[in-house]
Amino acid sequence: MKTIKSPKKMSQAARDIVATGRTLALVPTMGALHAGHLALVDRARKAAEVVAVSIFVNPTQFGPDEDYLNYPRDTRRDLALLRERGVEIVFLPQVKDIYPDGYETFVTVEKLTRTLEGQSRPGHFRGVTTIVAKLFNICRPDVVVFGQKDYQQAAVLKKMTTDLAYPIKFIVAPTVRERDGLALSSRNQYFKAEQRKEAVCLIAGLRTAKQAFRHGETSVSAIRKIVKQESRRICPTVRFEYIAVTGFETLAPLKTLNKGAMLSLAARVHGVRLIDNLRL
Ligand code: PAF
Repeated sequence: MKTIKSPKKMSQAARDIVATGRTLALVPTMGALHAGHLALVDRARKAAEVVAVSIFVNPTQFGPDEDYLNYPRDTRRDLALLRERGVEIVFLPQVKDIYPDGYETFVTVEKLTRTLEGQSRPGHFRGVTTIVAKLFNICRPDVVVFGQKDYQQAAVLKKMTTDLAYPIKFIVAPTVRERDGLALSSRNQYFKAEQRKEAVCLIAGLRTAKQAFRHGETSVSAIRKIVKQESRRICPTVRFEYIAVTGFETLAPLKTLNKGAMLSLAARVHGVRLIDNLRL
């Protein structure tokens, strides 16, 4: 496994792969890897001959009051996991090489970023699209893989890929969950053991709501109420930022539920901000 820090060397490595007629898949990450990331790597492996993973905690996608400085970082462990998984290249750029002094160019997807996470975290997607566009330009992948847990991120990045005509196949892989249903997230590390048990409240709320939909409930406000009630039953202190029912690719809010719509939420569980979603 090659570890590359310099963007120039990464671009050269990508050109070398193309020169040998092989295809390259990229899995962009911010490190603190877990089984969810490794599932993205496995999906990438099926789609291309060489797999590269980038690890970069991207400062421009964190708001001033968010956890950029405290975001979990454990590069040594990440590299061991990726080596074990058979990854060929790990790209580990440094902040000064991605955003050198005087940097001022950003990529924005306009409409899709105005709702949900975009509303709760102003500027977040501008940072995400900018770093991912840079990673695309540096690594020139044939295929990229993102996770369904960050479903708005996937929709925004897919739109950017199409709009900017990147010749890249865009794959969205299913959310990986713990046995009790908690979606894997690097932020789950923030929980103490007792708090962790209650973090299951979000998926419990979503699943109960999906069941109600299956039994004929189509009112958005009733569904929101069900999510809240079930989640609070398990974790009375949970604080919701949003519970939304939207079109799958449009992200447009729906007036009534229909099959294929997305039920998504963001909430703080014991102070830890989590997002999750289920497709109806
Ligand atoms: O999902 C993430 O880990 C990040 O938002 C991404 C896509 C790697 C961009 O920094």
